[in-house]
Amino acid sequence: MGKKAQFGSKIGLVAATVGSAVGLGNVWRFPAEAQANGGAAFLVVYIACVFLLGVPVMVSEFALGRAGRSDAVGAFKNLGASKPWWGVGALAVCASYMILCFYMVVAGWTIEYLWASLTRALYDIDTSASMESSFAGKMQDMIGGSYRPLVATYITILINICVLAVGVQKGIERLSNILMPVLFLVLLVMCGVSMSLDKAAEGLAYFLNPDFSKITPSVVLNALGQAFFSLSLGMGILITYSSYFPNSTKLTKTAVTVSLLDLLVAMMMGIIIFPAITSFGLQDANLEGTTLVFVTLPEVFNMMPWTRLWSTLFFLLLTVAAITSTISIAEVTVAFVSDRFRTSRIKACLITLMPLFVFSTVCSLSLGVWSGFRIADMNIFNLLDTVATNIILPVVSIGVCVYLGWVAPKNILQDEISNYGKAGRHPGYLIRIIIRYIAPALISLVLISYFLNV
Ligand code: PHE
Repeated sequence: MGKKAQFGSKIGLVAATVGSAVGLGNVWRFPAEAQANGGAAFLVVYIACVFLLGVPVMVSEFALGRAGRSDAVGAFKNLGASKPWWGVGALAVCASYMILCFYMVVAGWTIEYLWASLTRALYDIDTSASMESSFAGKMQDMIGGSYRPLVATYITILINICVLAVGVQKGIERLSNILMPVLFLVLLVMCGVSMSLDKAAEGLAYFLNPDFSKITPSVVLNALGQAFFSLSLGMGILITYSSYFPNSTKLTKTAVTVSLLDLLVAMMMGIIIFPAITSFGLQDANLEGTTLVFVTLPEVFNMMPWTRLWSTLFFLLLTVAAITSTISIAEVTVAFVSDRFRTSRIKACLITLMPLFVFSTVCSLSLGVWSGFRIADMNIFNLLDTVATNIILPVVSIGVCVYLGWVAPKNILQDEISNYGKAGRHPGYLIRIIIRYIAPALISLVLISYFLNV
């Protein structure tokens, strides 16, 4: 096997990791969660979760990946972990593959909307019906049909194959270096536009108005779950990416930078969405993910001058966020296949991604024509999401913390955080306490509360 791949620059590795973290979680989950859970009060809890727990857990995943220098399973094995421990890595690979199955389909929807905005087909609506029902009907056609969403998913899979087959530096890193600046630029423009709307201040107050009475234990647990999902923790992504970090990368600084940027994007999304929907009197509309981006926001764009421009920019943003996340999720399995089975990268890409053509075909049919096909009262789509995000993700995060904090030789975490003594001052002691005690305890609470349905 050739030499282990590495990211070529500091900016490139941060761009790639931010590309993974910034995804649909920031765009459609965060604003709705914040608004439903007490506005600014939720934000305070969320920020605490990101920095007190998210960052230390991210540093642990980085330490594990860079010390183990392999895929999510191989990293544990290279550190001499015995059976149950590398099983944590195996679970991460399973979770990421499950998430990949539906994330590819949703990323396809964003491409469809981007195309429909560019061609203006999205705004070619029945004027006799209300705008809301027209766009809801459009959404049914766009994401519920069987042929169009399927083609869009195939396109997403092909993009993934092309980028991942080229390699870490020339594929993932180069793409992130191009797309992340585009993402931030579009975000800035859209924030500017939204803030210049009539009732911008009122909209912001609606989003950020602190209601501390709404903070309950379940809000804290929601914030924690949102933080972990948004930072791409517990899925082997950060273990895999950090195996490509050079030895000189400062892990804590990288984790803080990535988390800050991820938070910034989430906040900017709120700043875009709330002034816009308030200014057009849509604040009582359903803010739940798909309806927010595929029905409510098109209503807003339709009422604005330059509809096509704003709509295209917004769906470009969404597509970029989604595609860079799918790439990171797919890389977990690609790295696993190529490291474990010693295959070439290209073969690993095909082994990982070709089955998705079959899966998405079945999935698209199950959402459209076969909408009656259900398991345990959920369609396959929700089932994959629920099992992966609510169960496997916390289990893997606890596994990583307990392994590094209690089982692995103590020097591994220390050496990686301090770059073998070369990193100057670093919060190694604090991180160690968090990953030994606080993180496993709190994440276990999230898991238990899920099972008790709190
Ligand atoms: N962090 C991504 C988001 O916020 C979600 C994601 C989940 C990315 C799993 C990769 C893997 O949407």
